[in-house]
Amino acid sequence: MKMQVNIAVFASGSGSNALKIIEYFKEKPEIAAVRLLVANKPDIGAIAHARQQGIPHIVVENKELREAPQVLLEQLRAHGINFIALAGFLAKVPDVVTAAFAGRLVNIHPALLPLYGGKGMYGVHVHSAVLADGRKQSGITVHQVNEVYDDGEILHQASVNLSDDETVESLQKRIQTLEHYWYPRIIERTITSLQA
Ligand code: GRF
Repeated sequence: MKMQVNIAVFASGSGSNALKIIEYFKEKPEIAAVRLLVANKPDIGAIAHARQQGIPHIVVENKELREAPQVLLEQLRAHGINFIALAGFLAKVPDVVTAAFAGRLVNIHPALLPLYGGKGMYGVHVHSAVLADGRKQSGITVHQVNEVYDDGEILHQASVNLSDDETVESLQKRIQTLEHYWYPRIIERTITSLQA
């Protein structure tokens, strides 16, 4: 029998990807459902989206993530979570969680890893670095998460060609469009392959 897949989405910001994932799986309850939003700070857009969508949320601040990581693991278990999608989560996921969810923990990065990954490479910093280097292409990477930042197995990449007048803002918008399309679909593909 297929196991019910209960997703937790982890976010630190506006949560536009979190919302897309929630909406996508509302249309596909036979595949999975988002059951929890995990935020590392209160009052963020992602929590507002979760509320509107009727998804419970918890806030686990960075200090607690570092000093009592077991608490998060227990909360995930209490909500029956068996798959995690990081969507703009800017804190380090505790190793106990990474280990417990090996193969069931994915992230999206707004560049073509291994380029422009690692610590400090998030949001507009990524796009600024890509443009400063005069790159002709950028894109997105969906990957498994392990203990090292942006280092897990790559599950999918999609790219865009940069125009001569590309700006950080225009690139950010184009990357976000790719993310919103691909991330829910690659999560679905990963879940389906786990069950094959
Ligand atoms: C996305 O660009 C994602 O790739 C990165 O953080 C951003 C989150 O954006 N990891 P949002 O909060 O989902 O709008």
